[in-house]
Amino acid sequence: MSNRRDFMGMALGGFTALGGIGALYAMKKTWDPLPSVKSAGFTTIDLKDYQDNVIVTEKWRGKPIFVLKQSKEMLAKTKEEEKKRLIKVGDGYYLVCVGLCTHLGCIPSYDPNDKSFLCACHGGMYDATAEVTKAPPPRGLDIPPFRIDGTKLVLGETGPEYEKMLADGTTMKV
Ligand code: FES
Repeated sequence: MSNRRDFMGMALGGFTALGGIGALYAMKKTWDPLPSVKSAGFTTIDLKDYQDNVIVTEKWRGKPIFVLKQSKEMLAKTKEEEKKRLIKVGDGYYLVCVGLCTHLGCIPSYDPNDKSFLCACHGGMYDATAEVTKAPPPRGLDIPPFRIDGTKLVLGETGPEYEKMLADGTTMKV
């Protein structure tokens, strides 16, 4: 009987310890810094944290923002005209765009193997710079206002690189 009680005690202790570890893990997750920092209409993202050909969805003013760092292989296949859609920070080139289809606003999904976006609503497609490759979207995914600050990007502020994109028609104002 006492053996059984000892066993029950040990089992209960084990569960309690596991629960404690779980709670610590949950607390650590809460304390971990966020990948992006948001304040009053601005979202700051640090581009050095992103990996080649891995899509990350951030948020700016309630909109999904796709961030896609281009690999050397992707850049080699990108036409000069389409490179205008990318933001160069340090040695890296990044697509940073609003993740809402320019046809009727669905959220396209990225296929890292094909390196393209597909909008499942009506079959529209975009390449890795988010330029349209298949209708019906009327234009590439829009690029949000941004200002480059070292390796960081402040979304919601307007820097000279974004002004240039607006001026040459690379993106529309969002
Ligand atoms: S909403 Fe994307 S193709 Fe129609």
